[in-house]
Amino acid sequence: MIIELEKIYKSYNNNNLNSMSRNVLEDISLQINSTDSIAITGPSGCGKSTLLNILGTLDKPDSGIVKIDNEDISRFSEIKSAEIRNRKIGFVFQLHQLLPQLNLLENILLPTLVLKDNKLRDSAQSRAMDLLEIVGLTDKIKQYPGQLSGGECQRTAVVRALINKPEIILADEPTGSLDQESAEQIGNLLLKINKEQSVALVIVTHSMALAEKMNVIYKLNKGKLETV
Ligand SMILES: Nc1ncnc2c1ncn2[C@@H]1O[C@H](COP(=O)(O)OP(=O)(O)OP(=O)(O)O)[C@@H](O)[C@H]1O
Ligand SMILES: [Mg+2]
Repeated sequence: MIIELEKIYKSYNNNNLNSMSRNVLEDISLQINSTDSIAITGPSGCGKSTLLNILGTLDKPDSGIVKIDNEDISRFSEIKSAEIRNRKIGFVFQLHQLLPQLNLLENILLPTLVLKDNKLRDSAQSRAMDLLEIVGLTDKIKQYPGQLSGGECQRTAVVRALINKPEIILADEPTGSLDQESAEQIGNLLLKINKEQSVALVIVTHSMALAEKMNVIYKLNKGKLETV
């Protein structure tokens, strides 16, 4: 899968009569191919999550074109966009966004419930257990998010992002709340999947150690993407 951004602009109004709206993203063009691993860095508030949400079709730019596999996504119906998101894109959000009323395993299997591919749906549980083994959470599958540590929730969120075998993973600070060892484990897991299964990887991170493991590092600065 290829995601392309062409001349993306995005600004927010500050709800403040005296201040003008500020361009968070300004003329951003970027192409992501299936084997890429990309780090996006930059100070808090510079627009990294905004950029990731636009890449993942969760948010719309003010102007510019987002293409997935050469198709302009603004032509997709909301149903088609949702299907592509669920089937092709794995998200790891800055806050893990697990559902508190579902246990760990149920949270992970949630994105598989609406799969049209029967084979993928039926094999989801064993895939979940394999991934949980890697992140060391097999003994916690019945626990609810409120009974897990922040790092355990984050590891669960990574497994959930991988459960539908996505073609691209968009991860927003996936290791932010983890200790150094678990952070390294999660980073290595994402990279392993990127390399062995040709799943594109875009990671927003403040960790230079993690960023340096990617093929390309960008810094978002005053709305522009600069290569580091
Ligand atoms: N829905 C919104 N309405 C108004 N302003 C917003 C909205 N979302 C983001 N912003 C503003 O846009 C800017 C970029 O936000 P964004 O969340 O993309 O930053 P970030 O680089 O991810 O920061 P962090 O590293 O702290 O997560 C911030 O100044 C933020 O206040
Ligand atoms: Mg952010």
